Amino acid sequence: MEFRKVTVNQENTEPASKPKRLGFNGLTATEWASLSTNVWSDLSSPRQARHKEHGAVFPLKLADRLVKMYSAPGDIVFDPFNGIGTTILASKRLGRNGVGIELNPRFVEMTNEWLTEIDSELITSSGSALVHHDDCRNMSKYLEPGSVALTVTSPPYANFIQRSIADREKTHKKSRIVLENKSVVKQYSEHESDFGNLDYDLFLDESRDLFATLFEVTKPDGYAVWVVKDYRLPPDRPYISMHSDLAKAAQDAGWLWHDLIVWDQNAQRRLVLLGFPTRFYTNQNCSFLVVLRKKK
Ligand SMILES: C[S@@+](CC[C@H](N)C(=O)[O-])C[C@H]1O[C@@H](n2cnc3c(N)ncnc32)[C@H](O)[C@@H]1O
Repeated sequence: MEFRKVTVNQENTEPASKPKRLGFNGLTATEWASLSTNVWSDLSSPRQARHKEHGAVFPLKLADRLVKMYSAPGDIVFDPFNGIGTTILASKRLGRNGVGIELNPRFVEMTNEWLTEIDSELITSSGSALVHHDDCRNMSKYLEPGSVALTVTSPPYANFIQRSIADREKTHKKSRIVLENKSVVKQYSEHESDFGNLDYDLFLDESRDLFATLFEVTKPDGYAVWVVKDYRLPPDRPYISMHSDLAKAAQDAGWLWHDLIVWDQNAQRRLVLLGFPTRFYTNQNCSFLVVLRKKK
């Protein structure tokens, strides 16, 4: 592995005659270094009606950045929990070939509508995007072994969404969470194959199996980035480290835990008074990007 000191935001200092060295992802050393911060606070972007209808979409900026960091033009970029298609849309715009799988037919439809809209903006793009309506456990039907360069995904957080809904009904009906964070929590579907309908322990078991299948379809030195939040189920489980539990499940399936990036969402969320006056809890206003790599 090569660690070189690079001065960011400087013009190319190499002699004009020498061609710039590029990384595996097509980035120059300066671009590479500027993307290498491990806390991201600049991802806020306007929410469109489609984002509100789905309820748990990550920003296009996040997908763009990960696609640039961990894949090269022409690569296959995969999202097993496609949602409305943010990953595959970013991939197409950046000249990659996006493949998504989504269980809920309405979200498949919304993905195709969004893709049609951006097609009119793309004058030239060598990229593509395709979403399959299926259970992501069947990913091997659509992807050759060793073909995926990068996975960018955010799974449902087990059945925590349903618990949050019940909790909000009971305690937060008119609270700041709903009124000021403008956050909407929804169950994705009632389908028995939906990862959002699984108890946490079963969710981890099923995720371990999914990591094993994902490992098979990923190429050597390929990456997988899982975007997740940690959780609380007070009083018995005050802190559930979903990001490290998932990283452990991935390691059990053969992946290397390659890196961790913190997505700071404090600017988008007001603080909520938690546990006052008896127990002090912090607001969990960040998500974690668990970066996995398939060893060569
Ligand atoms: C957190 S959302 C992903 C949103 C996505 N990152 C985006 O930006 O649109 C998780 C998605 O996984 C889907 N899902 C749940 N279980 C699934 C399964 N077994 N196979 C495929 N998709 C599934 C849900 O319907 C939901 O749309």
